[in-house]
Amino acid sequence: MIIAMDGPAASGKGTLAERVASHHGLPHLDTGLLYRAVGRDALVRGVDLDDAEATAEVAAKLAFAMLEDPELRTAGAGEAASRVARHPQVRAVLLQYQRDFAKGDRGAVLDGRDIGTVVCPEADVKLFVTATPEVRAARRFLELSARGIAVTEEAVLADIRVRDERDSTRGVAPLLQAPDAALLDTTNLSIDAAFRAALDLIEAATSRAGRAG
Ligand code: DC
Repeated sequence: MIIAMDGPAASGKGTLAERVASHHGLPHLDTGLLYRAVGRDALVRGVDLDDAEATAEVAAKLAFAMLEDPELRTAGAGEAASRVARHPQVRAVLLQYQRDFAKGDRGAVLDGRDIGTVVCPEADVKLFVTATPEVRAARRFLELSARGIAVTEEAVLADIRVRDERDSTRGVAPLLQAPDAALLDTTNLSIDAAFRAALDLIEAATSRAGRAG
């Protein structure tokens, strides 16, 4: 079973994807980490983030084993990721890795921006996870503060708005709810309630498919 979970920054999709994957015994890929790793590697090597060809070369040399690096979770890596993610050449390099991951024996859970629309349009289940920018900023602020990162909630909200705008308006694979994706708005849900809602939507989608088949 392939489960695609898309949504904007800090919508909770990453945490939900991890819990859904563990519940269903499926491998999980946080595809944002791929773009974060390309952005971070480009910065380290002094490559211009606006240079499509040069950042695609960085993507082609990506060490996929390094995705656990906590540095990739920083706001700076997120901002760099959003910039390199605009380049079709970078996306093309990362596409095959994501598709191969999804097509493993048991399937997988992938979360990102374009999983249901581009990477796995044939996914068995598609969820679009969202929440208001204010609620996402409040959550991200708490998470960063807990990690001892000094930041204001206003700055986090401003960053989220910039990333939403860039991710939604780029010419290639923009953040978009697939027509056949179920909407999960987590604005007023705790993480546990959102998790239960995600499991219910997955159950509904798979039983619908079962009846159809
Ligand atoms: O989900 P995240 O915040 O880790 O993603 C970081 C950036 O990477 C995001 O701003 C846009 C980009 N991204 C993308 O374009 N496509 C994906 N499938 C995942 C992330």
